[in-house]
Amino acid sequence: MVRIEVKKDQYKLLHPRPVYVIAAGRFDKEVNVMAASWVSPVSDEPPKLALAMWKGNYTYNLIEKYGEFTVNIMSSNDIDKIFYVGSVSGRNIDKLASVKWSIAKGKKVNAPYITESMGHIECTVTNKVDCNEEVLYIADIVYAEVEEKYYNVRYGWDLRVALIPLHVVGKAFTKPESKFVFAKSISLTRKK
Ligand SMILES: Cc1cc2nc3c(=O)[nH]c(=O)nc-3n(C[C@H](O)[C@H](O)[C@H](O)COP(=O)(O)O)c2cc1C
Repeated sequence: MVRIEVKKDQYKLLHPRPVYVIAAGRFDKEVNVMAASWVSPVSDEPPKLALAMWKGNYTYNLIEKYGEFTVNIMSSNDIDKIFYVGSVSGRNIDKLASVKWSIAKGKKVNAPYITESMGHIECTVTNKVDCNEEVLYIADIVYAEVEEKYYNVRYGWDLRVALIPLHVVGKAFTKPESKFVFAKSISLTRKK
């Protein structure tokens, strides 16, 4: 076996990973959406997530201004639109009009969410970690909802119908298998 050192773009070792659409701004003005795959849950109680945001994004300016955003879980059927909102800036372009997604005001935040999403999470920023060109936002999850048909309480997304898109790199995406593989038990080895 030959193991090679990965000298750049080490993040690729952490892909594929789910890609979401972040919506920020205000429902009736300054709305913007962008793709984001560097999103992770970081705490269950209280519920919190983290979002790594490049400071050159227009969405960064909107989150700095309002301190809120929503994470929208779209279907793999939407990857063309997801890639589009992840490769064009909304500073001078109305991306929502281009992709024909509709928005509504969040239930607990004033940031918008995408009504065509399979579910969405509403967030308020509580902490920021400066990472040079990026900032890591730590945010409280103040509300979350899903389309009932895509979800069950035990397993979460029903992967037979909820086609969660995974981002590989660039324009390449994949999706999870719809059947589960269950882990078998491994016997304990006590430390001597
Ligand atoms: C699949 C995909 C995933 C992305 N993930 C992130 C991410 O996690 N964080 C980030 O800052 N930008 C990410 N981007 C890049 C932004 O979506 C992109 O810079 C976008 O054009 C920003 O739009 P805005 O200027 O309208 O905010 C991603 C792009 C794609 C296509």
